[in-house]
Amino acid sequence: MDNRPIGFFDSGLGGLTCIPYLMKALPDERMIYFGDTARTPYGSKAASTIRSFSMEIADFLVRSDVKMIVIACNTVSATCLELLRNRFPQIPILGIIDPAARKAAQSCDSRNNIGIIGTKVTINSGTYKSLISSYNDRLNIYETACPAFVPLIEEGIIDNEIMDLTIKYYMDDFVYGNKLDTVILGCTHYPLIKKNIERIYPDLDIINPSSIVVSKIRQVLEERNMLAENSEFSNIFYASDLSENFVNMIDHIFENESADARVKFKNFDLENGERHI
Ligand code: DGL
Repeated sequence: MDNRPIGFFDSGLGGLTCIPYLMKALPDERMIYFGDTARTPYGSKAASTIRSFSMEIADFLVRSDVKMIVIACNTVSATCLELLRNRFPQIPILGIIDPAARKAAQSCDSRNNIGIIGTKVTINSGTYKSLISSYNDRLNIYETACPAFVPLIEEGIIDNEIMDLTIKYYMDDFVYGNKLDTVILGCTHYPLIKKNIERIYPDLDIINPSSIVVSKIRQVLEERNMLAENSEFSNIFYASDLSENFVNMIDHIFENESADARVKFKNFDLENGERHI
């Protein structure tokens, strides 16, 4: 048993899409989440910039005594997983891409046309394609970057025509031109527009890595005998620039929890520590 929290991080609020699945599958686990809202989006930045931001956040999570780090960001998983594992060998570090790639490889065959959507960095890295192919090399895989999705989602522009038009702008030719039947949401922000995508392309099967990573978290904690039991720890959600959308989303995730939802928010500057808003 290990009642220390699990550390999650993302460039912003996208990684929060993993949290409801974690709470459902592993209700005894507690978490520390860091969203780098002051520096989002990561997905169009240089790999060296993403590496230095990710090292700072992972350092902070390790100092906060988390028992595991989940990189709830495809962009960071594509660029920094090995780097972070080498830097912190004492702690299990999970990326979000591999469990989803394995699942896609198992559930699809050569009759399927699989599309991956993600940030520029994730798509240019080819990580999804190479991991899926390493599990099953007979699949038809197509990829495209959708760089405007993350800024719109961070702004809360979701349930409206602007988002629908942006989805069509990036995806119409991609979906119809490649006769896609399956799409992988290769960015943790995208589950927040899953309903829009389902409405616009009702025949697509959607693979959501934010839900799939939770089975991997369970497996690793079980193998190491690190599952929590009756932890008293309060979940903490840090943002480097606490936005209304970030707070609203956490409120929404915990709305059905008991009054002592055991959640704290903090506005946090990695260099100077806690800041008041
Ligand atoms: N949620 C991040 C991902 O999964 C978004 C990246 C970004 O900030 O552009 O890639």
